Amino acid sequence: MMQKPPDDEFDLCALNELRAKAALAFDFEHPQFGRHEIALFWDGERVGALDNYCPHEGAMLSHGVVEPGQVVCPLHAAVFDVATGECLDRYTGDAQAYETSVREGRVWVRAPGERPIPRP
Ligand code: FES
Repeated sequence: MMQKPPDDEFDLCALNELRAKAALAFDFEHPQFGRHEIALFWDGERVGALDNYCPHEGAMLSHGVVEPGQVVCPLHAAVFDVATGECLDRYTGDAQAYETSVREGRVWVRAPGERPIPRP
């Protein structure tokens, strides 16, 4: 029997869908900070999850270019580690990263205290 997933982990999409698109964004609601998006990335080898807004001027990282190990911001090209959110070229601060896991072909993200808003 499958174990019940922890309450702060959410099943977001099929790995195949993410692999086909390289980046996908999902709506979440935080009780204190309100609505925001978490972006999932597939860099060809692994999955990463970052807050979807670039720490520099808020461009959507899910519209950036995903390369092995990193995502490049679409606005001014800051480079972030796809898994840790570290700004690799020091252009700006680090992006908030979320823990991910892949189970039975599905991508899960850990977002404590948040509530995912269902996709339309
Ligand atoms: S908004 Fe991302 S680098 Fe400027």
